[in-house]
Amino acid sequence: MMEFSKRAQGVSPSATLAVSTEAKKMQKDGIDVINLSTGEPDFTTPDSIVHAAVKSVESGKASYYTPVGGLPELRQAIAEHVEQDTGRTVLANEVAVTVGAKMGLFETFQALLNDQDEVLVVAPYWVSYEEQVKLAGGVVVPVKPQASNLKTTPEELSQFKTSRTKILVLNSPQNPSGLVYTEEETLAIAKWAVDNKILLIADEIYGKLVYNGTKFTSVMTMSDEIVENTILIDGVSKAYAMTGWRIGYVVASPQIIQKITALQGHMTSNPAAVAQYAALEALTGSQEPVEEMRQSFEGRLNNTYAAMQNVPGFKLENKPDGAFYLFPNVEEAMRLKGFSSSVDFAMALLKEAHVAVVAGEAFGMPGHIRLSYATSQNLLDEAVQRMIEFMK
Ligand SMILES: Cc1ncc(COP(=O)(O)O)c(C=O)c1O
Repeated sequence: MMEFSKRAQGVSPSATLAVSTEAKKMQKDGIDVINLSTGEPDFTTPDSIVHAAVKSVESGKASYYTPVGGLPELRQAIAEHVEQDTGRTVLANEVAVTVGAKMGLFETFQALLNDQDEVLVVAPYWVSYEEQVKLAGGVVVPVKPQASNLKTTPEELSQFKTSRTKILVLNSPQNPSGLVYTEEETLAIAKWAVDNKILLIADEIYGKLVYNGTKFTSVMTMSDEIVENTILIDGVSKAYAMTGWRIGYVVASPQIIQKITALQGHMTSNPAAVAQYAALEALTGSQEPVEEMRQSFEGRLNNTYAAMQNVPGFKLENKPDGAFYLFPNVEEAMRLKGFSSSVDFAMALLKEAHVAVVAGEAFGMPGHIRLSYATSQNLLDEAVQRMIEFMK
């Protein structure tokens, strides 16, 4: 038997990827599975972005290593993009381009955490935070909001803070719930982090995907002392339908960026050059495709949220304002069908109704399931019908 390192032994495979792998296997076997488990837009990358990438390959520009922290013109474009969105002046040396936002987060935890340092993560939370913190030697302290809107507050965070708390992760718009913190709520939490000398990681990867008039306020719009205490995580994956290209970025003080870049130099070197040229076009070219996709997600959210009210035992308490997920409470549905865990419930949905979803356990909130509505309305309608049938 191979003896793996303690570090590797402690890591669980990504639950979202596991369900989608199983769903793809069933599809390959000819089973008509509707896969609502993955966190990616169904749209292909907009043409102008693809053309820029092809051009960079054909011209030979994309043949070579780029600087580890990213192409200088891309770092500059990211700085200008953030400034345009938030009004905050950002310099290129405050930006690192990473292999997806995921690697940006991984490197940030590696750069900042010592063994047993604690990281506050607000539940329900994205699957990878916990495993990445563990890999950096840290300990995740889940904060389970008591409020029915699933939002935490400074008072609640204070209950979980100890002398070892080093980082707070705030993800808004949130995966998996789709909730969006208001400006006042974000400000209060960011200020709490400053006052308590806890670094804030603001994961704003879904910041451009908000719906029905919701306004998203980035932490970067706030005071100097808040921004200086913040590490912004963002990227092009979700808003530009570019999950496969693997380009994310970190915006932080030059000191943090230098350390992240030093780590990256030994892990991935630069993100793929061709993908960086694609991201450059995404951020500097027309933003119309982003708005078109956003509108499309909004329509699907509204239709699917309404249709899902008819699934027996599913409780959709808070209508999502952002991202592209629904996160119903299925405790009653589990009771009606005789399941004691949402993992078993999700597996039965996959095997019997051929609808792939992710169980809430993966997000630190059992009794729920996550469905992505980043797929066509026809498939979403069919999935809802299948769930209604399943519950009968
Ligand atoms: C909240 C959150 N942060 C970060 C990421 C990582 O994004 P990327 O594909 O750029 O690595 C995801 C992707 O699912 C996410 O949902």
